[in-house]
Amino acid sequence: MNALTDDVVLNAQAAFEAAKTPADLENVKAQFLGKTGRITELMKGLSQLSVDDKKAQGAKINALKTAIEQALQARRDALQSEALERQLQAESLDVTLPGRVRHTGGLHPVSLTLERIEQIFNSMGFSVAQGPEIETDWFNFTALNTPQNHPARSMHDTFYVEGGHLLRTHTSPMQIRHAVQHVKAHRAALDRGELMPEIRVIAPGRTYRVDSDATHSPMFHQCEGLWVGERVSFKDLKVVFTSFCKIFFESEDLTLRFRPSFFPFTEPSAEIDIQFATGPLAGRWLEVAGSGQVHPNVIRNMGLEPERYMGFAFGMGPDRLTMLRYGVNDLRLFFDGDLRFLSQFQ
Ligand code: DAH
Repeated sequence: MNALTDDVVLNAQAAFEAAKTPADLENVKAQFLGKTGRITELMKGLSQLSVDDKKAQGAKINALKTAIEQALQARRDALQSEALERQLQAESLDVTLPGRVRHTGGLHPVSLTLERIEQIFNSMGFSVAQGPEIETDWFNFTALNTPQNHPARSMHDTFYVEGGHLLRTHTSPMQIRHAVQHVKAHRAALDRGELMPEIRVIAPGRTYRVDSDATHSPMFHQCEGLWVGERVSFKDLKVVFTSFCKIFFESEDLTLRFRPSFFPFTEPSAEIDIQFATGPLAGRWLEVAGSGQVHPNVIRNMGLEPERYMGFAFGMGPDRLTMLRYGVNDLRLFFDGDLRFLSQFQ
C-alpha cells in the first residue's frame, strides 16, 4: 500500500500540472479528493484493518490528503499568477510610443483685435452692441440718409436675400438700431424735457460686399462707433479716436489725419488716415476709418431732435487694424483657415 499511496501524490501532482485552467483543475481535484476520489477509496480500505493498523494507515492517508491539498493549492496559485501574467502582458503599455498631443485652440487674430477694441472703448465708457447681419433696406440705407437711387448705394453692392433683406454692407445700421432702443428706454424722460443719458456705443461685427482681392474680402469686419449727446462734437471724435489708436498700437509715434470726405449719414465727414513714424510702414498714410458728425436726418431717424442732440460716428475696419498691428499684407490669409498661419497668433 505504501508504494501505491505515494504514487497517489505523484499522480495527483501530475494531473494537477496537466490542468491548464482553474475549471480543469477543479474537475481533476474530484478524482483525488472528491466523494468517489482516490483518498475516499483508501479510507474505505481501512475498515478491514486492525485497530492499530487503522491508526497508522489513517494517519498516513491524512498526510497524503494534506500533500494532495497542498499540491492543489500550489497549482491553483500557479494558474492564478499565470493568468495575471497573461493579463499584464495583454494590457501592457508601450511607454516608448509618442504621446497623443492635445492641441489647445486659440482666438483668431481678428477676434483678438475685436476683443482689444472692445476693451479699449469700454475703458472710455462705450458699451458694446450686437446686431443682425441680415438687414432691411431701411436700417442699412434709408434710415442712414441714403434713399433709394442715392449714388452712394452703388459702392455698397451686396447679397440680397428674399423678402427685401440684404447682408449688411456696414455696421452703420447699428447706429439706428441701438439709438432707437436707447431713445425708447428713455422716452418718458425725453417727453418731460429731461436730459437723456448719452448714447456711447460701439458695434463690432461681420459685414458683406461684392468685393474680393488681397485687401478686400466678400465678408469682412467693421466696428461702428457712436457718441450722441447734447454737446458731443468733432473735437471729441478726434480725441477718442486718437487715444484709441495710440492704445491699440501701443505707440505714441503715430499721427492721425482727418481727411474731408463724404458719407450720406454724416456732415461733415472725414476719412481717418494713420501714419506711423517708425516701422516698415513708416511715412505712409493708411486709411483706417470713415467718420463724421451725425447727419441731422439720421438723428431724426433715431427719434431725437437734431436741434438738441448731436454727436459723431465712425466705422473702422478691424481686419485692416489686425493687418497693420501684425504686419500681414494679404487679408485672405485671415479667412483661408490655414492653421500654420493662424497658430502664430496664440
Ligand atoms: N459705413 C461706412 C462704410 O462702410 C463707414 C463710416 C463712415 C461709418 C462714416 C460711420 C461714419 O459711422 O460716420 O463705408
